[in-house]
Amino acid sequence: MNDILRKQFLMHVGQTSPSPMMIEVARAEGTFFYTPEGKRYFDLVAGVSVNNVGHGNRKVIEAVQRQAADYMHIMVYGEMIERPQVEYARRIAALLPGGLDSVYFVNSGAEAVEGALKLAKRHTRRTEMISMRRAYHGSTHGAMSMMGAPEGEEWKAAFRPLLPDVRAIDYNSFEQLGLITERTACVLCEPVQGEAGVRLPAPGYLQALRKRCDEVGAMLIFDEIQTGLGRTGEMFACLKYGVAPDIICLAKAFGGGMPLGGFVARHEVMSDLTTDPALGHITTFGGHPVSCAAALAALDYLVDNRIVEDVERKGALFEKLVSQCRGVEEVRRSGLLMAVELGSSEKLYRIMSLFARRGIMSDWFLYCDTAFRISPPLTIADEEIAECCSIIESCLDDL
Ligand SMILES: Cc1ncc(COP(=O)(O)O)c(C=O)c1O
Repeated sequence: MNDILRKQFLMHVGQTSPSPMMIEVARAEGTFFYTPEGKRYFDLVAGVSVNNVGHGNRKVIEAVQRQAADYMHIMVYGEMIERPQVEYARRIAALLPGGLDSVYFVNSGAEAVEGALKLAKRHTRRTEMISMRRAYHGSTHGAMSMMGAPEGEEWKAAFRPLLPDVRAIDYNSFEQLGLITERTACVLCEPVQGEAGVRLPAPGYLQALRKRCDEVGAMLIFDEIQTGLGRTGEMFACLKYGVAPDIICLAKAFGGGMPLGGFVARHEVMSDLTTDPALGHITTFGGHPVSCAAALAALDYLVDNRIVEDVERKGALFEKLVSQCRGVEEVRRSGLLMAVELGSSEKLYRIMSLFARRGIMSDWFLYCDTAFRISPPLTIADEEIAECCSIIESCLDDL
């Protein structure tokens, strides 16, 4: 363990919490990453649903190297024709439902959410924006405004004033859909709530939400930043649940391991950002050619190797093995996005340190500190699932 590096990390790298994990990474491959001492970790977080195609994917590495050698940044986003960007946008559009055919590329999830909110306000000429309680959409002022109260309050309070005219409704409450009205520009919703601890939509809820938005002319925005690119067992959760949004936000796995975000709408909606005012959203690095090249290679990898088709089966295998373990109260799951409920935060903190010692990287959720996360690379092999579950079992036995 390199003590000097640890001290420099704490001193010079801006910190986000008083207790970072502090595991030094030397390399990563497939489902695992390794410390300089050679300790292996099962990666059950995958960078929070980023590394869907596995660490060190050769196709992605080659695409990055090729594109970096051809050209990197030339000009701010939207001015030049860059083949990786055009090709990726075309491919994503072909996979999405509801005529969502225009991709605005940005850098991150929060920026995708910012762009989508601005587009909805610009398109509807309305101001009210509705979010879901226990939603997480990012940490910038606009995205943070949409962290549904009251749970989001812990993060929001110190940064007020935030965006005005924002209200939160309960995810899965059919009654509260009536709060969406002709004043509402948009409703922002994760089809499966991630940081709430993997909460699935109640049967018919997303359909009812779609219907209510249509009745009052509000735009429905899906945040698929965590669920997109195969995580739930379909390429996008909106396909799994059969509801097409007006705008979809993508990031995380969208970049194939590189920083990339996007919000996607129908072409005639998206073109609102080009007039009145022109340059309705500006980003320098959005859709960086190296990120788009990596993303394209990752998408090809998912499709060519039929990775997404196998996600539900792998998720079910994980669920079966984990739910037999001592102390597991519930498993909430959509594909390979899983929360294993232990019912107590004290147990969760203890299991986390056992996991770390025995080579498992997991995490809790922003709004749920009683469950641990299982969202590994989608490429995880059956034998790896079995081995990982036996380590999880031994940790739970020793709790
Ligand atoms: C559902 C969801 N939306 C948005 C974000 C924000 O993405 P980023 O951290 O890239 O800004 C996250 C990040 O965890 C997320 O899980």
